[in-house]
Amino acid sequence: MFNLILFGPPGSGKGTQSENIIAKYGLVHISTGDLLRAQISAGTPLGLEAKLIMEKGELVPDNVVIGMINDVMSYNKDAKGFLFDGFPRTVAQAEALDELLAYSNEKVNLFVSLKVEENELLKRLLNRGLTSGRADDRNEDVVKDRIKEYNKKTTAVAEYYKKKGAVEEVVGVGSIEEIFGNISKAIDSHQ
Ligand code: AP5
Ligand code: MG
Repeated sequence: MFNLILFGPPGSGKGTQSENIIAKYGLVHISTGDLLRAQISAGTPLGLEAKLIMEKGELVPDNVVIGMINDVMSYNKDAKGFLFDGFPRTVAQAEALDELLAYSNEKVNLFVSLKVEENELLKRLLNRGLTSGRADDRNEDVVKDRIKEYNKKTTAVAEYYKKKGAVEEVVGVGSIEEIFGNISKAIDSHQ
């Protein structure tokens, strides 16, 4: 198996690059943001709880997110590997992921961190908010709160994986193709 974490702040291009990565490497894409939005659309109790939190730009509780990851991984036991997008976002989530993978003697093989400046993130997300229909992109204060939440709780996840090795930093500014080329190089050198 090849298990990849695509890491980066809100708007750094995780979703955009994930599409290219799964097409080239055949990994199963797990985006916790997409899974949560699907729960909201379906009107489940989990979705109703998550909606209020996501609209404020805060993180959904660890146990909720870890439960969803566990479910998707169990449904995809034959996967060649997983691409985690927007997960883990706290050290507790990273520890839970390592444990889940260890049950089947697997591990995180590579952690790719996309680097994008805050002004560019704000510009991208507010611009997308004009058309995306995503409630958390529409309001500048909420976008800023998402970035604050990332700085406060999520950057520690990069430190956690740096201690374990296999971390690559990729500049997330430039053309989508150029960035994808650099991510591919990082993956190919760790296969
Ligand atoms: P989530 O859906 O994960 O959102 P996010 O990480 O805040 O950010 P985005 O998905 O908006 O950005 P992205 O990095 O995927 O960039 P994208 O490719 O879309 O999470 C939403 C919420 O769910 C969280 O706030 C939280 O409440 C909850 N949640 C999710 N996971 C959780 C977890 N694990 N724990 C707890 N809570 C969780 O690109 C952004 C824009 O930029 C697009 O318009 C794109 O076209 C554009 N773009 C992309 N690349 C480029 C480029 N190279 N140049 C110019 N523009 C570009
Ligand atoms: Mg995304």
